[in-house]
Amino acid sequence: MLKDWSDVYSIRIDEIDEQHQGFFGASHQLYEGILGRDGKNAVVDAIVFMREYAEKHFRTEEAFMRKHQYPGLKEHLLQHAAFFRRLDELENDLMIFGPSQDLADRALDITQDWLIDHIADEDMLYALHVKARAEG
Ligand SMILES: [Fe+2]
Repeated sequence: MLKDWSDVYSIRIDEIDEQHQGFFGASHQLYEGILGRDGKNAVVDAIVFMREYAEKHFRTEEAFMRKHQYPGLKEHLLQHAAFFRRLDELENDLMIFGPSQDLADRALDITQDWLIDHIADEDMLYALHVKARAEG
């Protein structure tokens, strides 16, 4: 199910919240692209866009965590790497089997729903760390 960005997903860091909203957008574009609503080449374009958006976003987060000496950086990076592995697998299956409702649902699961869980379970932790440090 497509979900709209909501304030409950905010980690109270503007730059990262904005990128998370963009991540939702990239995820929805991928879903629609797989369902063929945006024309023939939309799947490849949407995968490329999703991957590039995630790379840019993760770079921002990683720099932010380094800057604030977040102790959970290494574990967090593993989550980002796992995201790309699942996206690669999806792309592979799309090339082999062609677009389908099942693969569109899986795309949503590994991007939009993954992000929602990742914000709550991982991003919230570095946000709390930064807040605690700021308060000394
Ligand atoms: Fe993250």
